[in-house]
Amino acid sequence: MIKTVETTPFGDQKPGTSGLRKKVPVFQQPNYAENFIQSIFDSLEDFRGKTLVIGGDGRFYNREVIQKAIKMAGANGFGRVLVGRGGILSTPAASHIIRKYKAFGGIILSASHNPGGPTEDFGIKYNIGNGGPAPERITDAIYAISQKITKYKILDANDIDLDAVKTWHLGDLTVDVIDPVKDYADLMEELFDFQAIRNLFSLGCRVVFDAMHAVTGPYAKEIIERRLGAPAGSVRNFIPLPDFGGHHPDPNLVHAKELYDEMMAPHAPDFGAASDGDGDRNLIIGRNIFVTPSDSLAILAANAHLAPGYSAGIVGIARSMPTSAAADRVAEKRGIRMFETPTGWKFFGNLLDAGLVTICGEESAGTGSNHVREKDGLWAVLMWLNIVAVRGESVEDIVRQHWATYGRNYYSRHDYEGVDSDGANGLVESLRERLETLPGTKIGDLVVSKADDFAYKDPVERSVSDHQGIRVFFEGGSRIVFRLSGTGTSGATLRVYIERYEPDASAHDIDTQVALADLIIAAETLADIRRRTGRDAPTVIT
Ligand code: G1P
Ligand code: ZN
Repeated sequence: MIKTVETTPFGDQKPGTSGLRKKVPVFQQPNYAENFIQSIFDSLEDFRGKTLVIGGDGRFYNREVIQKAIKMAGANGFGRVLVGRGGILSTPAASHIIRKYKAFGGIILSASHNPGGPTEDFGIKYNIGNGGPAPERITDAIYAISQKITKYKILDANDIDLDAVKTWHLGDLTVDVIDPVKDYADLMEELFDFQAIRNLFSLGCRVVFDAMHAVTGPYAKEIIERRLGAPAGSVRNFIPLPDFGGHHPDPNLVHAKELYDEMMAPHAPDFGAASDGDGDRNLIIGRNIFVTPSDSLAILAANAHLAPGYSAGIVGIARSMPTSAAADRVAEKRGIRMFETPTGWKFFGNLLDAGLVTICGEESAGTGSNHVREKDGLWAVLMWLNIVAVRGESVEDIVRQHWATYGRNYYSRHDYEGVDSDGANGLVESLRERLETLPGTKIGDLVVSKADDFAYKDPVERSVSDHQGIRVFFEGGSRIVFRLSGTGTSGATLRVYIERYEPDASAHDIDTQVALADLIIAAETLADIRRRTGRDAPTVIT
């Protein structure tokens, strides 16, 4: 039985960089999640009788919203829902399931690397039939509809049992509860040389994977321990918990510090890795060396041909604008295409669909390829293991050789989290107003050569996205980027991205913050960060 429920709009349902993210109590308001889901459906056409994929990262409130989404999908005319057992689907696995089963689209419930729990974060995002995040024209439409919504439709039915692989019928809707891991693990086995990685492990290479009590636990257990034969215990914190054990499921040097310390200690394992709440980010640490995501993108692009799924070579690389230009040097040397897009994976979708690029990446620990339309944490880990296995060299050797060949892009991101929105907006506004007068400005030995507000014209859709970040370039090729986060749930987060290129291999051993010291001072001088944010230092340095 279909129920129509009257409702009124919530003013704050504008999707950000990656869907709608809010605190759990916001989502728990009566009709809040329903309004947004109905707005998604109302923005779509011609889906009657088609398939919708639903899954999430297991965080607090996941199961409740999954039940609502299933019943709303049925009431709105979808014919079939595929939902991961336990309500679980990692973001890349959801992308794969949408593609493999030719679904119309998917709803993914996650707030990625943000903490979970009754007062923490939750999120809903819509992915289209190519498996990727909805492009801006759809997220804009969803928002516009959410601002006028008057009713939503939902089946008047009991909740279904999500914990067994089984098929259910709710009126005309078929709901298949599916194994969330198998299809994804099979795909990884097609792309990578599992035999080579198995040999690597049997020769004693020690791997540690920290699932951070988030969604990749079951995936990593199956792939790294069962299929690749790493000893039991190689995958840690593998049970997804609604509050991620009280931690931030963010695989960076702050929240995965224990793993980092272990990898830097004597007798460290050979390979350390972690993934985030919904499984799309990755952290790669070799014994004695952290690999920055920007370097990782470049190194994976340069070595991808060593993996069976990429043996024909890659056709092009895309990176988000704030990501370092390390990958550009690989593209240049290989004579393949390079694209620079705004922040957010949704901008890679068209390039991948058009066959213009094979590998994409962001400085924010996201790397992936044309195998799905999301970034993919475990994919990056397996690609690294495949490369290490085939080259027979350590992570550190591979990174150092890469720098020696291509030069090193010293790179760091300074985040000022939860600052006053007016102050942060004022900082960006002020830079924007001075763009024309900045060139020629001298700060210490640095001279500004160019400054702009990054705008991107999608080469496929021809749509233009502007105001994507203030870029300040210096003579000699260094660069500072200022932009505000589009994923935060309270106040504003200022991100300052700092980069310097060093071709000389004898200067590749400097501490990153030291190598960037003059640019860090220049960022403060140009943007007046302390005064405008009221902060003496960044909250997080990556
Ligand atoms: C952040 C990252 C961005 C990533 C997004 C979703 O967005 O910077 O690269 O795509 O999370 O994981 P931001 O908060 O900067 O808007
Ligand atoms: Zn994520």
